[in-house]
Amino acid sequence: MAQKKILIVPGDGIGQEVTEVGKRVLDAIAAKFGHEFTYDEALIGHVAIEATGNPLPEETLHKMKNSDAILFGAVGHPKYDNDPSAKVRPEQGLLRMRKELGLYANLRPIKLFDELLSASSIKPEILKGADILFFRELTGDIYFGEKGRKNDGDTAYDVAEYSRYEVERIGRKAFEAARTRKKKLCSVDKANVLETSRLWREEIQKLEKEYPDVQVEHQFVDALAMMLIKDPKRFDVVVTTNLFGDILTDEASQIAGSMGMLASASIGDGTGVYEPIHGSAHDITGKGVANPLASVLSAALLLDISFGMKAESELVIQAVDQVLKQGYRTRDIADANTPAAMILGTEAMGTEVLKFI
Ligand code: IPM
Ligand code: MG
Repeated sequence: MAQKKILIVPGDGIGQEVTEVGKRVLDAIAAKFGHEFTYDEALIGHVAIEATGNPLPEETLHKMKNSDAILFGAVGHPKYDNDPSAKVRPEQGLLRMRKELGLYANLRPIKLFDELLSASSIKPEILKGADILFFRELTGDIYFGEKGRKNDGDTAYDVAEYSRYEVERIGRKAFEAARTRKKKLCSVDKANVLETSRLWREEIQKLEKEYPDVQVEHQFVDALAMMLIKDPKRFDVVVTTNLFGDILTDEASQIAGSMGMLASASIGDGTGVYEPIHGSAHDITGKGVANPLASVLSAALLLDISFGMKAESELVIQAVDQVLKQGYRTRDIADANTPAAMILGTEAMGTEVLKFI
């Protein structure tokens, strides 16, 4: 029996709907295993801008630092996407949170539930058995370097920067994870062009000597983007920079059938943050059709990584597996053979997961 403080940060768009389901799952786990989870809620992103003018209000940051784990939804609003001149943007809240909490390692497990083999646009025989764990560096690179305009605003720049220490700490996490899996690590960079990538490769090569039991390959990001689709099964743990990781994990979501299925964990110096990799999806917001399973699987990662509750986490994953086996689908993972009665909305899907738990 453990006592834990969980902060719920639903954010924008479907973040609200799916995080509600993730929270219900955490509650059910607490009841079943006799844990005491207490919850608080905080604002981030567009909803926080509307309420306070700040995409990451100080109150939210304070609550984040004082909780044991954070279940996060999504940030973003179409209003800003079409207004490149907006000075205050929802995404700034997310980026600042990553920096302030020292969340330098973003884990994105890409695992296909067998029942979803036909939901992907990639051929089932290519996908079957694919199981990749991405480590995306999350607090460096072009995301956080100097950016601005010059020449009277006619030229823009974003500086990519990495220090040895930043590469080493994410590299180490990836090597450690590879040791607990198939002992295979692929490091992705663009060392034929970028200086940051050459430093990245040097540091990973140093670590290779400390982990002689892990088999390492280095790939350029363009080649890796191709290989991921051609033969996803050849990869086990993949470690890469912030920007490349952002792009490659969206691509890799197709290996898992749908973006709606993928959870992620952001960890580092302080409180861990667990969130779906999908965004705020304003096109379906408020319709009750969003797939809550990525939030449910984020809750599973939270239980495992932040609380060390393996059995609890495993039960949540099994619940998702069972619900899919019974044939239930949300719209995004349904196919032409799914009977209409088996296509559930967000809440109903959550209820099926809870029944199993
Ligand atoms: C992600 C998202 C964010 C990112 C956006 C919303 C800033 O795409 O978490 O992958 O680029 O990191
Ligand atoms: Mg992204």
